[in-house]
Amino acid sequence: MILVGTNAGAPAGTGSGVEVAIGFPAGLVFGSNQVQNRRFVHKINLVTFGRSSICLSYFPPESTRAAVMLTLSKLLLLSCIISFVLGAPALVPSAATPSSPGGNVSTTVAGPYSPVITSSNSSSTSAVSSTASSASASTSGASTTGVITIPLSSYSFTPYPTPTLNPRPPVFPATDPLNPPSVSSDPQVVPDFAPAWTTAYQKAKNLISDYTIEEKVNITTGVGWANGLCVGNIPPNKNFPGLCLEDSPLAVRFADYATAFPAGIQVASTWNRALMRARGLALGQEFKGKGVNIALGPMMNMGRIGQGGRNWEGFGADPFLTGESAYETILGLQNGGVQATAKHFINNEQEHFRTSESSNVDDRTQHEIYAHPFLRSVMAGVSSVMCSYNLVNETYACNNDKMLNDILKREYGFQGFVQSDWSATMSTLSAVAGLDMTMPGDITFDSGDSYFGGNLTDYVNDGYISMARLDDMATRIIAAWYFLHQDEAYPATNFNAFNPTDEVTNKHVNVQADHYKLVREIGAAGTVLLKNKNCALPLDKPRNMVLIGSDAGPGKSGPNEFSDQGGSDGILAMGWGSGTGNFPYLISPLEGIQERARQDGSSVFWDFDDWNTALAGNMAYGQAVALVFTNSDSGEDYITVDGNEGDRNNLTAWHNGDDLILAVAAQNNNTIVVVNSVGPLIIEPWIEHPNITAVVWAGIQGQEAGNAIADVLYGAYNPSGRLPYTIAKDLADYPAQLVTDDSGSEIVTIDYTEGLFIDYRHFDQANITPRFEFGFGLSYTTFTYSELCVTPIHSSDTDQEDLITAWENGKASPIVEGSSTALWLHEPAFQVTFKVTNTGLVSGTEIPQLYIHFPSSASEPPSVLKGFTNVEISPYDTEQVSITLSRYDLSIWDVVAQGWRKPDGQISFSIGASSRDFRLQGDIPT
Ligand code: BGC
Repeated sequence: MILVGTNAGAPAGTGSGVEVAIGFPAGLVFGSNQVQNRRFVHKINLVTFGRSSICLSYFPPESTRAAVMLTLSKLLLLSCIISFVLGAPALVPSAATPSSPGGNVSTTVAGPYSPVITSSNSSSTSAVSSTASSASASTSGASTTGVITIPLSSYSFTPYPTPTLNPRPPVFPATDPLNPPSVSSDPQVVPDFAPAWTTAYQKAKNLISDYTIEEKVNITTGVGWANGLCVGNIPPNKNFPGLCLEDSPLAVRFADYATAFPAGIQVASTWNRALMRARGLALGQEFKGKGVNIALGPMMNMGRIGQGGRNWEGFGADPFLTGESAYETILGLQNGGVQATAKHFINNEQEHFRTSESSNVDDRTQHEIYAHPFLRSVMAGVSSVMCSYNLVNETYACNNDKMLNDILKREYGFQGFVQSDWSATMSTLSAVAGLDMTMPGDITFDSGDSYFGGNLTDYVNDGYISMARLDDMATRIIAAWYFLHQDEAYPATNFNAFNPTDEVTNKHVNVQADHYKLVREIGAAGTVLLKNKNCALPLDKPRNMVLIGSDAGPGKSGPNEFSDQGGSDGILAMGWGSGTGNFPYLISPLEGIQERARQDGSSVFWDFDDWNTALAGNMAYGQAVALVFTNSDSGEDYITVDGNEGDRNNLTAWHNGDDLILAVAAQNNNTIVVVNSVGPLIIEPWIEHPNITAVVWAGIQGQEAGNAIADVLYGAYNPSGRLPYTIAKDLADYPAQLVTDDSGSEIVTIDYTEGLFIDYRHFDQANITPRFEFGFGLSYTTFTYSELCVTPIHSSDTDQEDLITAWENGKASPIVEGSSTALWLHEPAFQVTFKVTNTGLVSGTEIPQLYIHFPSSASEPPSVLKGFTNVEISPYDTEQVSITLSRYDLSIWDVVAQGWRKPDGQISFSIGASSRDFRLQGDIPT
């Protein structure tokens, strides 16, 4: 039996495998429930290199591996004989691997497998843009016939050399992760972690020098689901104490005495690097205090789809904002001592079919949009990257040579290790594709077997995976531990994620310090004021007020009513799934507001029944202020809430929100709406209602939610949050929609046909007016901008003048290890300065944003965010502001040359208060 069209390699760029499924007696099952069935999948990777060789990698089920290998050897031998006699393509077993990194992909291959390959590969290329396909074709020197070599990859299996140059302070200082560069609202330092990695690698190599194969394999293989204290565990070995891996991006999951921080989307909404860093550091300290070695965050998927269930864990719908948020979060986390994990690599943009969908993404979009935050993570010295469940261009992400070996490890020079998402490992040979650690270890939860473990040992013993590669895997994992100095008196794990009542393993260490203050500040700083008429806000000692809606109060059974927050009752301060933690407490808006009411002498009434709109209207009547609270929730696919299987079914307010708001607005001409939402909502039913005087987009704020909301409502915090995504007038206005129909396919195809045009980039290009644009947010004061100036900055990288000159002349950067993270590309190249004046009566923080307008030759969206800063200004004061730009910021990814290139023509830019509110305009000097 032949399976056609389910597995194919990444079509774009260079060096990807073309996977071909072939039939064996055990039968082929490539079901949508891959967790159950994937052990029976048989796959072959077929890649051509240069003119004469084809690498063939085989993915057998563990049980039939030996028998099949034997059959395969016979087949190869037979093929050699036929080849010799007839001059036909031969299959020649050889241990040698071609050394061309980024080997070329053939789209048509003659020989016995050609019908399968052609069909499979063409199905994958059809999904990508013509630019990507042409790149593949033009870089390909592949022949269609020739020797087939086993095994396995174009890569040498040795650790990649340290990227870029020697450290060069002040711009490029040697940096230890425990001592990162200080935070700046306009960062100009590019930390060089390479020396710290080199030292860590030396120590790691020493440590494993006397390890047996089994011991090295143990370092790469989790102990299995729920077999240790943490959600993931690497066992101890000799002097190595083992590793604890624990969620989440916003808390130490399943622990007590830990803080429930605002979600990623909230800190992104602050557009404030200092708050991003501070949150990372506080989280890092808490993880360390609990004895967690590896924190499973930050999460940085791109919010491609507004309904995406896990968008709130991440940093919004723009790669630059996400990249900066990830960069600061990782510097903070690792400064706190814990290893950070950049996840999920890559294209896990929706929860429906997350284990059985292929995200088909062209090479340029992958580089410029989805991979960019991971590049910034590598530049922050991230210790680990987690590969995702889905397929990327029809190859599973954890089995994806192109993404793991070629882009992450080679192009970005990533020195840490790749771990799988939980049960996302697809085969033992994923090790060859770049996977270093399998989590939680077993193939499916509790299955008691593993693709690594004994199977990896056998593969190494039998020569299918080289010892050098196993050494590299173990070295990377242990090096990351040394890199964070976790060998130096790091606390032992002192909580039990799976058994919180066991008094032996739960030491109840209180790690919260005074982090609640930061939670409150980020909660307020990430709140976006969308509408404010008649000076409705800030509240000024209202005589009386009513709070309407369940989101204003506590949940009936407390803040941890639902396991993994998989439910919605009361104030929404977290989404659901593995990206959560337990609340130590949760301040509701009622509590936060009543505290102020007590000081002001205001009377407070409330009604939390979302469905009794008549009562809500009656209660609102005659009040000085009527505050209506509503929300919208989402999460991870393993929990369904109110019919929402992770992703949101729609973008409308939950709990009868629209009708409730309208009922209140009908009775009170000072109605203020407060929204706690995981992402955008369609608010057309009420946004222009004349009685709705203010709208506060409060977001996902963590344990201090009610206090943070009160701070903004009363002006204790002058709002400075800005939208990290677009709020559209209509769901159909967004460029990409959630796929919920598998159309009977075992692997669901999701083509990223919108390419670079996600979120505001699409609205700008298609000339669609949004309700509120990306980057929008009001303040209780106003600002003006003036005196724009742009100055080139002389490079500190004198060794690479040739590269800089070539770039200035429009040549793409060369591709070598670490080439995409090189200093010359990322150091400040231009400084943009201007002045901002506070023209109002109160102090406030402005968030100036810089958008690049590329020349038409670049085929880029009209405006692309490449800089932002935050500046606090007293009334009537003026502050000088600086935003720097690197050559990378001014480049596009050239799919043919496979490098970063300045496009032909004049690059201009705008500075403004949102993606559509430009105040100053300039040109980049040529
Ligand atoms: C999630 C990861 C998480 C892991 C461990 C998976 O389901 O996708 O984000 O880190 O579980 O809990």
